[in-house]
Amino acid sequence: MRAAVGRRQASRLGDGPTLTEVEDPKDGKTVKRLGSASVPGSTGTRFAWIGAHDRAGNKDCCAKVVRHLNDRLRGSGSTETPPGNHEKQTLLSPRPGFASFQESAGPLNNNHGANQMDLGINGRVAVVTGGDSGMGFKTAEFLLREGVKVVLTDIDDAQLQKAAEELAAYGEVRAVAADLSRSKGIEVLAAFANMAFDDKPTILVCAAGITGASGDFLELTDDDWLEAIQTDLMTGVRATRAFIPGMRKAGWGRVVLFSSEDAVQPYVEELPYAAAKAGVLNLAKGLSKAYGPDGVLVNAVGPAFIATPMTDAQMEKKSKEKGISFDEAVKQTLDEERPGIVAKRRGKAEEVAAAVVFLCSERASFITGEFLRVDGGSVMTMGA
Ligand SMILES: NC(=O)c1ccc[n+]([C@@H]2O[C@H](COP(=O)([O-])OP(=O)(O)OC[C@H]3O[C@@H](n4cnc5c(N)ncnc54)[C@H](O)[C@@H]3O)[C@@H](O)[C@H]2O)c1
Repeated sequence: MRAAVGRRQASRLGDGPTLTEVEDPKDGKTVKRLGSASVPGSTGTRFAWIGAHDRAGNKDCCAKVVRHLNDRLRGSGSTETPPGNHEKQTLLSPRPGFASFQESAGPLNNNHGANQMDLGINGRVAVVTGGDSGMGFKTAEFLLREGVKVVLTDIDDAQLQKAAEELAAYGEVRAVAADLSRSKGIEVLAAFANMAFDDKPTILVCAAGITGASGDFLELTDDDWLEAIQTDLMTGVRATRAFIPGMRKAGWGRVVLFSSEDAVQPYVEELPYAAAKAGVLNLAKGLSKAYGPDGVLVNAVGPAFIATPMTDAQMEKKSKEKGISFDEAVKQTLDEERPGIVAKRRGKAEEVAAAVVFLCSERASFITGEFLRVDGGSVMTMGA
């Protein structure tokens, strides 16, 4: 997947993005690729341009983005080159077309591979937060398979680049690392995403989230609460505020916010998380009413006990604390805390991603303000 590099010549554009000339091993032509940048005052905020090359007409676009972001990073229009080595490059040769679902996914995807339903979003641009892991990653993959161009974002630069490299096999991905629990992070994401492709994003999937502090309510501090609220609620607030205006202008938009079963069925050990996710539900409903008339449909999904790094960490903690194996921890959780899950197993990221991509699609044109539980039956009531 990663193209071999014949020759590199980095053009440093300061403490920011770099354009690097490389020789494409396929045809020997020199192409330009955008490197990564650090953003002063915003810890860990980086971006990387993945898989862009001028054969696809991106050369000018690359240069434009480099100039724009460098100006933003410097806080001026200065062209002076500050010191700093930023030659890290991600060079990819995306496979043309999209792999069929049968090729790499399990039986779940076989129906999709038959292309029985055109989701009608081919060519659109999506932003996926929390995109380098778990359900965000799978959602990005499924969107790419539908021909959607994806701006992938997450907090850890190295992990994000790795994920973007993997996803480039399925379509066009641009990646920018940002801490969305801070307003600076969303500024960087918005600037990048609005210039990443010719079209602006009209699909937004907010999957960034943390379990946050857990334990006895009486022991939890304000900071514990604020951490969960900043990440589990405010990342969605900031992202919708940044991208809904573009959708309104386009007269078409889809937003899917990751809530949780916890929003309607709080687990007493995870109250900051549960309350923040309840806020997400409320946000989704409110936004659906506010911007539905402009063609922007906003929904929330409510997964429960999905096998991702998030619940892996919870199960590892439980297995250590109780001196039981990982599998025993999963079984115990299912028996004692998730008796409603009829399949008696954790859900799969792709089972949630499929629902999310449907909600992002043209086919979901009469669904808004909905809370779609993808929880295997964990929430045992009929209502939200
Ligand atoms: N796994 C479950 O059982 C489950 C159940 C209900 C809801 N959810 C929700 O689904 C979403 C996806 O979770 P997952 O299970 O795939 O977990 P995950 O940990 O695999 O993915 C979450 C991603 O969010 C990113 N993130 C965290 N803080 C961030 C920040 N400040 N800025 C940018 N990115 C940040 C993380 O780096 C991570 O990659 C989350 O919102 C989670 O709360 C998960």
